Amino acid sequence: MIDLIKRLPKAELHLHIEGSLEPELMFKLAKRNNIQIPYKNIEDVRNAYNFSNLQSFLDIYYAGANVLITKQDFCDLTHEYILKCVENNIIHTEIFFDPQSHTSRGISFETVITGIKEALADAKEKYGITSCIIMCFLRHLSQEDAFKTLNQALSFKSDITAVGLDSSELGNPPKKFEEVFKKAKEQGFKLVAHAGEEADVSYIYEALDVLEIQRIDHGVQSIKSDELMKRLKKEQIPLTVCPNSNIELKVFENYKEHNIKKLLDYGLNVTVNSDDPAYFKGYLNQNFINLYENLELSKEDIITLVKNSFNSSFIDEKLKKEYI
Ligand code: ADE
Ligand code: ZN
Repeated sequence: MIDLIKRLPKAELHLHIEGSLEPELMFKLAKRNNIQIPYKNIEDVRNAYNFSNLQSFLDIYYAGANVLITKQDFCDLTHEYILKCVENNIIHTEIFFDPQSHTSRGISFETVITGIKEALADAKEKYGITSCIIMCFLRHLSQEDAFKTLNQALSFKSDITAVGLDSSELGNPPKKFEEVFKKAKEQGFKLVAHAGEEADVSYIYEALDVLEIQRIDHGVQSIKSDELMKRLKKEQIPLTVCPNSNIELKVFENYKEHNIKKLLDYGLNVTVNSDDPAYFKGYLNQNFINLYENLELSKEDIITLVKNSFNSSFIDEKLKKEYI
């Protein structure tokens, strides 16, 4: 089974490129850019990756992203993730990036997006890996700030497939971003949002009904509402679930407690993803392997999860047929 997991060609729909920054590259870029980081060595970094909830992770994750300065840095970061895609047999990936984490430090939007794009073009040419880019608004910041970011993105419209919403969920409900999502939709962007990672089902309802999103990122709290479960099943709204992340951020106490198998058995359109793999102990295959080893996933379950990812992806229908 582990061999099957490794061999299956897979798609990934929930991956923060800044969350693929491995400590080795963090040190290399800190040196290259003359940036101070609060760690003595790689082991010191890994020891700091001990999280109690989402916020405790985000504090460290944003600090790590400070080493990213030049277009080459963003290109190197993305290139390293692409090498992991090759290792994990990921043939299509949909990558989140957080422009505000960088523009707030004086790095231009253009620097970030052109660096990422260059590595993705190379990925297609060298490895045949297809991809798209999803720009996330940081929900702990204001809607006004999100509007500024959307306006910057308009110059790169053809490079960005969708907009999303991430960062500190509790206290920052989807409704806070109603107007900016409306404008993004008018501009032709597809829409996704993190919802129901830590917060209750009202955040998932708002993401669906106020923001009008097409995919829910995480969504594992859905299980707390029968009514919502029925709707998600009926409408087959994709959930991009990130098992390792949920364990590392203490959404579930341990793997045996994870509810993905229940969601799948109920008939929801569930997918498996790595979220921030450099911080959460492993890339996509490791997420599948951990699920298999702890939740007794069958071969059919694994194949369904992989098919769901291709079906729920933003690739055009013709290519989708080729992939499935
Ligand atoms: N940014 C990076 N990873 C995230 C997560 N799991 N939830 C919210 N925001 C994030
Ligand atoms: Zn995420």
